[in-house]
Amino acid sequence: MTALQELFLKELEAVTSTAALRELRSRYTGKNGVLTGELKKLPALAPHERAAFGKQVNIDKVFIEKRLKEHEQVLTTKEIKAKLSKNPVDITLPGYYKKPGGRHPVTIVLAEITEIFVSMGFSIEEGPEVESDYYNFEALNIPINHPARDMQDTFYIENTAGSQSNESAFVLRTHTSPVQIRVMEKRVNESRANGTPLPPLRFIAPGKVYRCDSDVSHSPMFHQVEGLVVDKNISFANLKGLLEGFLQRVFGPEVPVRLRPSFFPFTEPSAEVDMGCYFCKGAGCRVCKGTGWIEIMGAGMVDPRVFRNVGYDTGKYSGFAFGMGIERIASLKYGIDDIRLYYDGDLRFLRQF
Ligand code: PHE
Repeated sequence: MTALQELFLKELEAVTSTAALRELRSRYTGKNGVLTGELKKLPALAPHERAAFGKQVNIDKVFIEKRLKEHEQVLTTKEIKAKLSKNPVDITLPGYYKKPGGRHPVTIVLAEITEIFVSMGFSIEEGPEVESDYYNFEALNIPINHPARDMQDTFYIENTAGSQSNESAFVLRTHTSPVQIRVMEKRVNESRANGTPLPPLRFIAPGKVYRCDSDVSHSPMFHQVEGLVVDKNISFANLKGLLEGFLQRVFGPEVPVRLRPSFFPFTEPSAEVDMGCYFCKGAGCRVCKGTGWIEIMGAGMVDPRVFRNVGYDTGKYSGFAFGMGIERIASLKYGIDDIRLYYDGDLRFLRQF
């Protein structure tokens, strides 16, 4: 053993912490350490002595590094053990757990509805929630003073013109039907600008709608999905077939569907679409008020007045429209009897989906 090795071992023996070891390591193997110091002696030596000297320094270096590593391992293990015995970890304690987020039932049902219509070749359109009186009412053949305006419990946005006329008024849209007007208008303008014929239309328009109404079955904000199909030779039978197919995909292939005559200013003829009660299978229960049927959406053939308002040739085109409430469909699917549950944000409710 060289004198250097002996001196090193003596120092190493005195080292009892990893901190002190780090200090010793840097003092021996560091840039200005003992080993570098040894090598600096080389130039002063006679040329024939240099090779042997250099070799010896290298051997010392390997020796020192090996011992440092061994000692480090011993000290580290010792320190971890000491730490653990002072601050024991109770591995039986429950861990911290963050519950993953989930999708809202309205989102789940909307995704399902969208998927069904997309699979049938429908595209998806959107319109603004703050809508002009014209699109929400006028163009849909609901003129001012029409009783249907009261039916819809409209939230009016302050008319800055302060005039009596409703022409410049804005509302929170009371239904998604204004998207019918917006899309048809856009197609007419495009076809006029490009000189191309009007393309057939087949889209759904999901979104939020607003009505000044609030109880177990009404919320001031809820969601609808509008549908519009316009082409040559579209018939009422097409409407019935489509809606039957749709409802049977959502509620099962056995579910009966019926259409009842009804009225909407923007469709003629109009129908209320009922399906067999999901809960009692038609026997009559509280949900269907003993009738065995549940009203699920409004529909009808596009009224010629609506076509005229957007510039469609009523001699050439016909079409149908339908509109449904998403919460209503979700409530039937999941058996939810209070619409307010959707908006309270109560995790006990939301975690069930
Ligand atoms: N917009 C109507 C409503 O909200 C529903 C509807 C849409 C009816 C399309 C017929 C056609 O009550």
